[in-house]
Amino acid sequence: MKIIKSIKNAQQILEKEKFKRKTIGFVPTMGALHIGHLSLIRRARKENDLVVVSIFVNPVQFGSKEDFKKYPRAFKKDVLLCKKTGVDFIFYPNAKDMYPKDYKTYVNVEDLSDCLCGKSRPGHFKGVATIVAKLFNIIRPDTAYFGQKDAQQAVIIKKMAQNLNIPLKIKVMPTVREKDGLAMSSRNIYLNAEERKEAVVLYKALKKAKEIIAHGKKNSQEVIAMMSSLIKQSRAVKIDYVSIVDFENLKPVKIIKNRVLVALAVRFGKTRLIDNVIIESVKLKTQSAKLKLKV
Ligand code: PAJ
Repeated sequence: MKIIKSIKNAQQILEKEKFKRKTIGFVPTMGALHIGHLSLIRRARKENDLVVVSIFVNPVQFGSKEDFKKYPRAFKKDVLLCKKTGVDFIFYPNAKDMYPKDYKTYVNVEDLSDCLCGKSRPGHFKGVATIVAKLFNIIRPDTAYFGQKDAQQAVIIKKMAQNLNIPLKIKVMPTVREKDGLAMSSRNIYLNAEERKEAVVLYKALKKAKEIIAHGKKNSQEVIAMMSSLIKQSRAVKIDYVSIVDFENLKPVKIIKNRVLVALAVRFGKTRLIDNVIIESVKLKTQSAKLKLKV
């Protein structure tokens, strides 16, 4: 496994590999790797000749009051995990090279970046789309892997790649959870013991939403109200949003049909956690139709 720090080196080395017709699977990360990240790397390993992981805490996607400075950094451990998981190259650039002093170019995916997390994190997705576009240009992967955990991010990156005609496949992998259901996140380490216990309520609320929608509840506001009241039973929380939106355009859905994204962001003390599930009400209908036919 090679660690490449310079942009030029990365381009030259990977260009040679592409010339040899090697396929490249790419997993962009901000490091502090956990099993969620590793699930993406494993999938990339299965499906490609070469696997590239980038580790870069991207300053441009953090707001001025956000946790850029304190964001966990664990490079040595990350290197070991990457080695173990069969990564070929770690791309580990520094901020000065990625954003030199005279840096001027940003990628903004309109509308999709302004809702859900974009509302309370203005500029965040512009930072994400910009760094991911740059990384795609440097690595030039055949396939890039993202997590469903950051559902809005995945939708935005797909749209960005499509709109900018970047020739690659994007695959979105399921959210990996702790045993009690909490979605794995590099930020979970910020939670104190009590907050960690209470954070389980997020997945409980999402599962409950799935259940009541399966039982025929179609009115989004009612589902959201149920979820919010369940979450508010935990003392130290502040709800940022609980929303039910179209799976592709992220617009709020009043009556639940087809495929919807149920997404939430909640603060536990100073830590903001996000989670989501996709609910396919058509499938549920089909299943119940099949059951009826059997009877
Ligand atoms: P980071 O938070 O490090 O996440 C890197 C990738 O891992 C993202 O695609 C994210 O969705 C995925 N991931 C995180 N937790 C996961 C989980 N529990 N299960 C499955 N996948 C999970 O997301 C970013 O970094 C950055 O915004 C980045 C895209 C690298 C741009 O800077």
